[in-house]
Amino acid sequence: MLAWYDAHARSLPWRAPPGSPPPDPYRVWLSEVMLQQTQVAAVIPYFEMFTTRWPDFAALAAADDAEVMSAWAGLGYYARARNLLAAARVVAREHAGRLPGDEAALRKLPGFGAYTAAAVAAIAFGQRAVVVDGNVERVVARLFALADPLPGAKATLRMLVDSITPDTRPGDFAQAMMDLGATICTPRSPKCLLCPLADRCDARAEGAPESYPFKAKK
Ligand code: ADE
Ligand code: SF4
Repeated sequence: MLAWYDAHARSLPWRAPPGSPPPDPYRVWLSEVMLQQTQVAAVIPYFEMFTTRWPDFAALAAADDAEVMSAWAGLGYYARARNLLAAARVVAREHAGRLPGDEAALRKLPGFGAYTAAAVAAIAFGQRAVVVDGNVERVVARLFALADPLPGAKATLRMLVDSITPDTRPGDFAQAMMDLGATICTPRSPKCLLCPLADRCDARAEGAPESYPFKAKK
């Protein structure tokens, strides 16, 4: 996965080039919050606008609430923007303007769920955290031809992601899995011929990768 990422990583404004030192935690955090319910292409202009207006935690913490909310307009899910401001203020006030570097401390900040805390710990701080979003769940369910249906399979999927997460470059690994899910191992018609995991993918060997992940009947 890391070799594939070195060759194929999408170049995105919040990323450092593959294998280089981690990018600014503020930018990683802001991008991950924006990406929670919004596609990459839609996030990019908002990310550029926010980082130009409010380049760091201190600037965002001092921002006017109404200005931030109106800058967020169009991204939707406004609870994210409210948590964004709340977290920036806690970081400015209680952490000297710098994010804490470990997952447990990150979890305590407003808006930091399991995904965001793990993603920021891995991508911004190089911590070995287990990063699981919907794309990663799909890739791993296929890789292991997991028969349990979602949502019940979430705990098993997390364990499987843990089992394949490397100690080195965990942030690049997480982003490689997300990119693979977004561009190759897509919900429909996965491009298995281009996939770096094809040789070891159980769903592909069975011949019906698209049927994974199974979903429980409602
Ligand atoms: N989706 C959420 N976070 C992402 C990231 N860091 N890279 C690619 N896709 C993402
Ligand atoms: Fe997904 Fe196909 Fe790669 Fe398996 S081989 S992980 S199904 S793209």
